[in-house]
Amino acid sequence: MKTFNIAVIAGDGIGKEVVPEGIRVLEAAGRRFGFQFNWRSFDWSCETYAKTGKMMPPDGLKQLQPFDAIFLGAVGHPSVPDHVSLWGLLIPIRRSFRQYVNLRPVRLFEGIETPLKNWKPGQIDFCIVRENNEGEYSNIGGRIYEGTDDEMAVQQSIFTRRGVNRVLRFAFELARKRKKRLTSATKSNGIIHTMPFWDECFHQMATVYPDISTDQYHIDILSAHFVRHPDWFDVVVLSYLFGDILSDLGPAVVGSIGIAPSGNLNPEKEFPSMFEPVHGSAPDIAGKGIANPIGQVWSGAMMLRHLGASEAADSVENAIAEILAQAKVRTPDIGGRSTTGDLGAAIAALVSGKK
Ligand code: NAI
Ligand code: MG
Repeated sequence: MKTFNIAVIAGDGIGKEVVPEGIRVLEAAGRRFGFQFNWRSFDWSCETYAKTGKMMPPDGLKQLQPFDAIFLGAVGHPSVPDHVSLWGLLIPIRRSFRQYVNLRPVRLFEGIETPLKNWKPGQIDFCIVRENNEGEYSNIGGRIYEGTDDEMAVQQSIFTRRGVNRVLRFAFELARKRKKRLTSATKSNGIIHTMPFWDECFHQMATVYPDISTDQYHIDILSAHFVRHPDWFDVVVLSYLFGDILSDLGPAVVGSIGIAPSGNLNPEKEFPSMFEPVHGSAPDIAGKGIANPIGQVWSGAMMLRHLGASEAADSVENAIAEILAQAKVRTPDIGGRSTTGDLGAAIAALVSGKK
């Protein structure tokens, strides 16, 4: 029987509550479709940081490298500055393992209320492809004259032809498997070196994919279109910062941040990819057992697809759609009173039971 070796980093807060539900559903999928998992947990988190001063051990990346994939909950705690948890764990994993694509599907499900009026399930269904290795989130820069009136801070954006082209290629290929429409957005009127460079790469790449229709916007008007015309989009490709912002707006438009998944992908599979919900550790509801596990479970379905178990991935995604449409088992964020465990168990039961 095929066995997938998965590194599990539940992290902090509700990460610890939703990850077990993700595992429960994936186990059910494995039983049904004839594969199994070897889960190995790593207690890397802000809690660990408080004890050891490190988010992960010095050889942490070496420990993760042999795994088929990484299944992550969320990291972050009010006692640890957010840049410490991000740069101490997530960014090193994304960069070292060349997870240069951050893929975030946005889909309106039946049974989820959207803050936008008059949209029906099926009308909003697109994917955000965020560049995940370079761009605006670089550690090149610094400060001088700290604490004085002359203080100055510089942070350098990095856009390489290789880095931009590889994420564009992924986005074009993804569009080819979907509705064949790709949107790119930058801010090339204001940021006059890196952003026109991205636009140029986009136009050049478009000539290689004549079957894909392309659109290009400035990021400010694109965010307005996300709200006014969410049905226009199929695949949207963005640099790190813009992708980060729009990929919170996308899920907000279709209901709850608690259901949004993401994959940090190394498409070449030279390194493990990492799957995590879009939401964070939600300290405001942590420990109450009411977090919505769907973002984690759906991230698990993306992991199955990446590992080649696409039938199982479909079954998990269908179970999510069905449970939301039935509207019986729901956590408070989507208007119900069920617990994290109730919702995880209900999805797992559907995955075990029928196609
Ligand atoms: P957050 O996503 O943790 O929470 C935002 C709001 O959404 C909160 O009101 C929360 O209760 C609610 N929420 C989030 N997930 C939910 C779920 N599954 N079910 C029900 N409600 C849910 O974002 P916030 O508050 O900005 O960040 C909290 C911590 O998480 C910070 O330390 C931040 O750095 C970290 N964070 C970590 C991420 C990661 O691990 N990739 C991503 C985003 C934030
Ligand atoms: Mg974000």
